[in-house]
Amino acid sequence: MSDSLSAECEQVLLVKDPANAVEAIVAVHSTKLGPAHGGIRRWAYASQAAALADVVALARAMTHKCALSEVAAGGGKAVILDHPGLDREGAYRRVGRAVEQLGGAFYTGPDVNTTAENLRWVGEETRYVATDAADGPGDLAAATADGVLSAWLALAEELDAQPSQLHCVVQGLGAVGMGLCERLSALGTRLSVFDVDRSRLEQAVQNYGATAISGDQVTQTACDIFSPCALGGVLTEPVASSLPARGVCGAANNVFDGEAAAASMHRRSVPVVPDFVANAGALIQGAIWNLQRQRITPERLRRIGVTTREILQRSRIADRAPSQVALELARERLER
Ligand code: NAI
Ligand code: PHE
Repeated sequence: MSDSLSAECEQVLLVKDPANAVEAIVAVHSTKLGPAHGGIRRWAYASQAAALADVVALARAMTHKCALSEVAAGGGKAVILDHPGLDREGAYRRVGRAVEQLGGAFYTGPDVNTTAENLRWVGEETRYVATDAADGPGDLAAATADGVLSAWLALAEELDAQPSQLHCVVQGLGAVGMGLCERLSALGTRLSVFDVDRSRLEQAVQNYGATAISGDQVTQTACDIFSPCALGGVLTEPVASSLPARGVCGAANNVFDGEAAAASMHRRSVPVVPDFVANAGALIQGAIWNLQRQRITPERLRRIGVTTREILQRSRIADRAPSQVALELARERLER
């Protein structure tokens, strides 16, 4: 495993079963502000090195997310290396046992491709997981969608427009993206949507009056706000230098593919709400339940909008990309 990536984390566990049929990586990035939190992502990575790079980048983003959302938690993440014939139940249970062994240094929960059923398996192996059980934190994806909406509304304000005057392209109609469509359609926003899963696309067209677009059109359709809610890395340099949107705000973790893309968006005066600010809803709801056994109020998630406004204003005044401003704020809080 790459030493420099591992060195950035407090702990990195390579999780295998005796037959080598399950491979997963758990990264505890930082427990400086409290126990690390991060969901489990199941993905068909090209190699173990690619999985390690992803889990560390995602865990680092969780550390920044915790610092900016002012919860007493730190960053971590788990990834399961998917492949045809993977024993899913065995894999999730194996990760659950690894989380249990960490003794509360790491709490886990949902992420891409991890369903409520998968988390129930994890929950049978460890106490340190947020599931959808009646005595759990509640619907985490809904909390994320509420938080993204709050950040989206702050961006709309920055663009000096009402939601009903805006056109939004939503990429990815999973747990969070579909929830965002539901909320935006209720506010009268015009939606153009894409998902690789045809049934989800049709659902958004039928339920929210959205226009279906193709995968190629996602970053080529002129709109006011682009909301990436699938996977990260969508804003590559070429996309960033031509994206026909006035602003970006979505749920996808690690949306920039490199710093040049962030610089390019800033040069073009297109504000991008940092993903680790906008998508903190699940973390806030999950961590406050895990650590204090308390349910949060809607007001707590609306604070994401307040933080977004502050970051966009500072970005404008200091002429620096919002992601830079947010990272500085996060580092200040981590050092304090
Ligand atoms: P999900 O697994 O429920 O949905 C992802 C959706 O994206 C699926 O419908 C999938 O078909 C679609 N998709 C995949 N590749 C695509 C592509 N190239 N183009 C269009 N659609 C594509 O995942 P979820 O939970 O909705 O998460 C979405 C993003 O938000 C992820 O990046 C995740 O890390 C992030 N996030 C999720 C949180 C949560 O509470 N679920 C919390 C914070 C961040
Ligand atoms: N997977 C969620 C994210 O990316 C966070 C999460 C972690 C939620 C742990 C609940 C518990 O922000």
